[in-house]
Amino acid sequence: MQIDSTVKLNNGVKIPLLGFGTWQIADSKVCERAVLAALNAGYRHIDTAAIYGNESGVGSAIRKSGIPREEIFVTTKLWNDHHDDPVRALEDSLRRLGMDYVDLYLIHFPVPQRNASWKILEALHSRGKCRSIGVSNFTVRHLSGLLDIAGVVPAVNQVELHPYLYQMDLIDFCTKKGILVEAYSPLTHGARLSDPRLVALAARYGKSPAQLLVRWCLQKGLVVLPKSVREDRIAENADVFDFIISSADMAVLDGFNENLRTCWDPTDAP
Ligand SMILES: NC(=O)c1ccc[n+]([C@@H]2O[C@H](COP(=O)([O-])OP(=O)(O)OC[C@H]3O[C@@H](n4cnc5c(N)ncnc54)[C@H](OP(=O)(O)O)[C@@H]3O)[C@@H](O)[C@H]2O)c1
Repeated sequence: MQIDSTVKLNNGVKIPLLGFGTWQIADSKVCERAVLAALNAGYRHIDTAAIYGNESGVGSAIRKSGIPREEIFVTTKLWNDHHDDPVRALEDSLRRLGMDYVDLYLIHFPVPQRNASWKILEALHSRGKCRSIGVSNFTVRHLSGLLDIAGVVPAVNQVELHPYLYQMDLIDFCTKKGILVEAYSPLTHGARLSDPRLVALAARYGKSPAQLLVRWCLQKGLVVLPKSVREDRIAENADVFDFIISSADMAVLDGFNENLRTCWDPTDAP
């Protein structure tokens, strides 16, 4: 595994395992600087969303980087308020990004209109506006309902995942159905980076707690999406390809699970 390692989605499209998260980087100049720093550090996968308010910053950073568009994997998401017209929502996102396609378009959250919207995403996919389509924050129940009506199996389910929220049943279900799991908030949104058990374990590898958490996701076969606005941390979070967490220590980390949710809890979403 290395920084630009990819895995194939269920439609054959390759996705880099390491992605750069951009939530809560609303200022477009700050976002542009952070994405440029990520691209300079070697990330080739950027995760944004209409609701993050930074698609234009992501697009301009990609253009300024000089890296060919097709070498960068770009994800954006359909926000909850835009299910009345997903076609227009994607067109608006593409205009803000300054792109004519995205690599992955996700339903951001399992709102009640999700299945009807999925059929529209399938049409957008067949028209080449999004190379892959997927979902986010879907539980097994939401996925099962979607699979009943889907012509295209979602390529991805992007959910909160880290050792403190180790959603094994969801990972198993997705794996059986050919849906790749992406880990968002892999650094627990900062909430557990000072956990003394994590700090001690990381020190044994000469790595930071954040690096250990990113590496744990990669060794679980997950796509991982750490975010930072700081250049030093952006590089640090990607410097995880020169060590391997032993299987005994992976089990120790698995044991940290406490069903901690730092973001959404979609469990009761109807
Ligand atoms: N689909 C969804 O509903 C959803 C929900 C949440 C997140 N996401 C995606 O997942 C990405 C990552 O999740 P996230 O932004 O919630 O949180 P995260 O990546 O788990 O953690 C980010 C936090 O950790 C800090 N940090 C980053 N690197 C660090 C390091 N090496 N050492 C110490 N602190 C560090 C950041 O601060 P600084 O920025 O100041 O460094 C920030 O406060 C998002 O940006 C977004 O793309 C998706």
